[in-house]
Amino acid sequence: MADKEIMRGLKDVYIDTSEASFVDGQVGKLLYRGYNIHDLAEKSTFEEVIHLLLYAGLPRKDQLAELDATLRANREIPDEVVQVLRLVKDSHPMDALRTGVSALAAFDPEVDDNSPEATVRKGLRLTAQGPTVVAAHHRIRNGNEPVGPNADLNHAGNFLYMLSGAVPDEETQRLMDVDFILHAEHSSNASSFGARVTASTLSDLHSAIVTGIGVLKGPWHGGAAEAVMKMAQDIGQPENAEEYARKLLDSGGRIMGFGHRVYKAEDPRARHLRTRSQELGEKMGEPHWFQILRYMEEKVMVPYRSKGIYVNVDFFAGSIYHLLGIPEDLFIPIFALGRIPGWTLQCIEQYENNILMRPLLDYTGAMDLEYVPIEQRG
Ligand code: ACO
Repeated sequence: MADKEIMRGLKDVYIDTSEASFVDGQVGKLLYRGYNIHDLAEKSTFEEVIHLLLYAGLPRKDQLAELDATLRANREIPDEVVQVLRLVKDSHPMDALRTGVSALAAFDPEVDDNSPEATVRKGLRLTAQGPTVVAAHHRIRNGNEPVGPNADLNHAGNFLYMLSGAVPDEETQRLMDVDFILHAEHSSNASSFGARVTASTLSDLHSAIVTGIGVLKGPWHGGAAEAVMKMAQDIGQPENAEEYARKLLDSGGRIMGFGHRVYKAEDPRARHLRTRSQELGEKMGEPHWFQILRYMEEKVMVPYRSKGIYVNVDFFAGSIYHLLGIPEDLFIPIFALGRIPGWTLQCIEQYENNILMRPLLDYTGAMDLEYVPIEQRG
């Protein structure tokens, strides 16, 4: 065999073409199907972005109304799935979401239909049902009964309503809406790649999304927002940030919420969360969380910019959730809820032009060893 080139971590390897999103990591640019993330974060809604991703274009008013009605009509989850969530009430909410999506497969009439039309329908159902799973598990683990969906609220508002039982104000709904927009799609990131690997065996969408959730959970991917908030709480006050970071970095640790495989400039999604974290902190009389994060960004991590290490989407997200009263272990499930349309689109692309994902490993172990019967082993 010719010389083997080992592409560890598939770094800089293109696995296929895609029309889902464009990422230019050198300048920090992100487009969903051609539309700049800044325009979408400032002017659009999550419902519109779902349409953009799954139907390849921004909707007309009637199309948006239809999609919105579909989402609102599909928010309920079967009682059996709620029973499963009761059984796993003590698990991490991300594990509960993974289990919940897996259980939903048993009740989806189109589970094994991988046609583009059925995959869109299933993706919309899972997008609508996901928040109900997360909210029901959260309430059950706190000793409360689940709150059913509120058809008067949009996707983001209804999720917050099902978590707390109270209708959130417009501003809070919009914060969650923007957060979902920013997390909706991001090319071949690890969890979308994982979902594509599952789809590439012609397995079903529910299985692919279960894979995506499992991959997203890790602290080097979606788990960073939770870790950032824990870090901010450990630091306590901005003046402690320098010493905390020094100790961590000197011992070979990493500052969570910094660095990205593709972005070597600022992650364009971070801008929107930075502004909102500052505004919300000031409004709620808790500016110190933003000050701690900003100190870390502006003072401690400046030398790392020459290595292409800047804040990523997870750095400011946690402080917003925290200020909204959302516990840290819900941060990753919220990321996952935003990403369901993106995972769905990646699977549709994979099914449409499928090739089995099956890379090689260069074996470096022993060869041709003699098998010794167990009685004769020393
Ligand atoms: N803090 C300090 N140093 C860092 C950080 C960080 N957050 N991230 C990378 N580095 C350093 C590494 O130690 C390494 O240094 P070295 O060359 O001296 O060994 C160098 O930068 C390159 O790091 P790699 O791990 O090779 O880069 P990779 O592209 O594989 O890593 C990753 C990307 C995993 C995201 C990394 O930056 C990281 O661990 N960040 C912290 C976790 C995090 O925030 N994850 C969320 C990413 S965004 C998302 O998934 C939604």
